[in-house]
Amino acid sequence: MKVDVILGLQWGDEGKGKVVDVLTPNYQLIARFQGGPNAGHTLEFESQKYVLRSIPSGIFQGGKINIIGNGVVIDPALFKDEVEALEASGHPLTDRLYISKKAHLILPTHRLLDACYEQSKGDSKIGTTGKGIGPTYTDKVSRNGLRVGDIFHDFEAKYRKATDRHKEILAQYGFQYDLEPIEKAWFAGLEKLKTFNLIDSENFINKQLSKGIKVLAEGAQGSMLDVDFGSYPFVTSSSTVCAGACTGLGIAPNKIDDVFGIFKAYCTRVGSGPFPTELFDEDGQKLRDLGYEYGSVTGRPRRCGWVDLVALRYTIMLNGVTKLIMMKSDVLDTFDTIKACVAYKIRGQETTDLPFDLGDGVEPVYVSLPGWKTDMAQMQSENEFPEQFNNYLSFLERELGVPIAIVSVGPNRAQTILR
Ligand code: GDP
Ligand code: IMO
Ligand code: MG
Repeated sequence: MKVDVILGLQWGDEGKGKVVDVLTPNYQLIARFQGGPNAGHTLEFESQKYVLRSIPSGIFQGGKINIIGNGVVIDPALFKDEVEALEASGHPLTDRLYISKKAHLILPTHRLLDACYEQSKGDSKIGTTGKGIGPTYTDKVSRNGLRVGDIFHDFEAKYRKATDRHKEILAQYGFQYDLEPIEKAWFAGLEKLKTFNLIDSENFINKQLSKGIKVLAEGAQGSMLDVDFGSYPFVTSSSTVCAGACTGLGIAPNKIDDVFGIFKAYCTRVGSGPFPTELFDEDGQKLRDLGYEYGSVTGRPRRCGWVDLVALRYTIMLNGVTKLIMMKSDVLDTFDTIKACVAYKIRGQETTDLPFDLGDGVEPVYVSLPGWKTDMAQMQSENEFPEQFNNYLSFLERELGVPIAIVSVGPNRAQTILR
């Protein structure tokens, strides 16, 4: 059997958590392949709301096995909080959440380094989530990282060596900190982590595949935050594109089947960096208010704008998207006019290619479409779609060249329409 991949096509927060939860009944195994607690994946069902950070979004439907893959970075303290909150709400995980021994550990000093580097950047700061993501992936690539599997092998010495090195860097920057309380919570988290099945997840997943099991790979962040192809340097530090599912889980490219690309019917971004279709007017505020666009991890207001088809075509290309999933279309229900950016104008020249520097004088070229002015939140089937909404879908499919297979009309699991 093969692996289907779900990933975000914009700057994150597209609604990946909700869709993974909706599609989980079709799979036996769900695996996160990159990122860490910088993610906040929201799920709503039966009047309950959950925000998952490191744990895959397949844990709520039918006792499926969930895996945190080798490409993920884990902060044991935050992991413990997340697991305990789920246990308290009646969702014990120990038997069905497996963790790769090759996943890297976010150390307390990685979190401090993240804050220190941001502070030192001043106005050009990335606006990270402050979870130590960049420094942890940096240590991974520079071969200084600690992995989950290291917990059982002379861990104290390895931990001291790594943190001593980090402390030297922090001292060079004159960064002030109080490590003790963070370390205490971190080591308590490590004890919790040890109670889980820590496995060679690449072997496990491939054995399951050869037995005919269907796997869903869950991405975090979005392709425009990818370390290679995103709006660098205002990106995260992992491969958020489909190729990241191969390296982050140990699956071969020819095992990938469908690639579900998720996008909002408009667009948002948190943190710094270029965002060509960003709106600073009342339409932008309306999107923020109606879409409740505030970060699920940091609570920061998200920057809002119209859908950017230049960026979407680019990320569809990078990922080989086979099916599109459009989220939050209900947020546009009351707009008279909806705009979509179909090209960029750069120094007077129109282009449909994403430029090297997305921030340098890029002006969006818009097409305006009439809104549908209909409350879609309770709709259950595409037969109920208003004509103008169908026109918007057809326009997007024509522009993007990929079918829109699922439309989401509200945050609840039930507010999902398969086409
Ligand atoms: P993720 O990081 O991609 O999983 O997305 P987030 O959970 O960070 O952000 C998506 C937000 O939109 C969450 O608050 C969801 O509950 C909410 N949401 C998801 N789908 C819809 C939808 O179709 N309509 C509305 N109004 N909200 C949605
Ligand atoms: P999910 O999975 C939106 C952004 C941060 C910052 C940049 C780098 O919920 O879609 P990092 O802490 O990763 O070093 O921050 O990336 N960012 C996200 N934005 N959704 C996310 O995750 C994000 N994870 C990181 O705001 O601009
Ligand atoms: Mg999110």
